[in-house]
Amino acid sequence: MADNTLTAVRKGSEMREVPSLDNAWLLLENGVVKGFGGMESAPGHTDEVVDAKGRFVLPAFVDSHTHLVFATGREDEFAMRIAGKTYEEIAAASGGILNSARKLREMPEEALFDAALARLEKLRNQGTGAIEIKSGYGLTTASELKMLRVIRKLKEQSAMPIKSTFLGAHALPDQYKNDKDGYISLIIDEMLPKIATEGLADYIDVFCEQGYFTNADTDRILEAGWKFGLKPKIHVNQFTNSGGVQTGIRHKALTVDHLEVMGQAEIDALKASETLPVALPGCSFFINIPYTPARSIIDAGLPLVLASDFNPGSSPSGNMAFVMALACTQMKMTPEEALTAATINGAAAMELEHSTGSISIGKKPGIILTKPMRSLAEIPYYFGDDLVERVFY
Ligand code: NIG
Ligand code: FE
Repeated sequence: MADNTLTAVRKGSEMREVPSLDNAWLLLENGVVKGFGGMESAPGHTDEVVDAKGRFVLPAFVDSHTHLVFATGREDEFAMRIAGKTYEEIAAASGGILNSARKLREMPEEALFDAALARLEKLRNQGTGAIEIKSGYGLTTASELKMLRVIRKLKEQSAMPIKSTFLGAHALPDQYKNDKDGYISLIIDEMLPKIATEGLADYIDVFCEQGYFTNADTDRILEAGWKFGLKPKIHVNQFTNSGGVQTGIRHKALTVDHLEVMGQAEIDALKASETLPVALPGCSFFINIPYTPARSIIDAGLPLVLASDFNPGSSPSGNMAFVMALACTQMKMTPEEALTAATINGAAAMELEHSTGSISIGKKPGIILTKPMRSLAEIPYYFGDDLVERVFY
């Protein structure tokens, strides 16, 4: 599969078009796409030749929404949910994000880095070629900075393009239980200036949701973020339709993510904006909440992005092939739409559409060589399977 023109987000019916070549060659130099074409024009000498007969050659997945840096899993809460408690009930009893924050504060930076790097390596082998990672399990200045430093170190040590997002407003820490304005002031007056001075974040995020941060809180935080040049990518409409989509659009958010609960007004608002909608079906699957209405979004002519939301609470998997399977089986996306949403549209959701997300001359997308496959649809069809034979960077 290869194309020279995929450097922009794909909208509506364009998402079904996956430009491809049969019986083709692809030339990479240090991971950079130097050329491709039909076998009749194959270049003569190269250092290494890989036979891709019967296989697919695809751009690596771009995962634009993860919480990859965390201390440990939350299997205890998994058991509680199996026994009947909801995600929201567990969170209200100081579990959920606060549980992860307690664990993360105790974990030394080195150990946190090692755990995150191991996860990143695993995702790489599952075909992820670029990733966004959020803070938000620190919830104190020191621990938020610790998380962001871990992300910076991952950027330095991994060949994978990584974007970092400051999510201080992920939950209200216990110390500020009765003083939300105090915590927001801490984010704005103490965390943000430090993070900006050290260049530790590319974006800013808020969990805009009933019981977490209101639209007015989100306004305050995003306004402050823009003063430091941080574009918003925000969590909205996961459990309730509280106007978060419109709030994101008002603040020129790059993306609004989750969108499990949304209607026509949100679709109309998105159509009149540049903000990209991002669906996270792994979260819907794992905590049993509705799926983002992908068909309504795409059929309205909008672009849609798929990401994993990899995190220990609501989506403990960063496997993008499985995300594609959920998109097809649960959200009625076609395999082609799912691939577009998980590659070039994901790249646009982290402003990397000119360097990754498609096989185009000059890009360095990371290349997946699949196991033998007869059609693209085999990726979501054989859900849970391992389709990746080899990944080139
Ligand atoms: O995207 N919704 C907010 N944040 C995460 C869940 C975080 C957690 O439970 O640890 C999400 O689903
Ligand atoms: Fe998330």
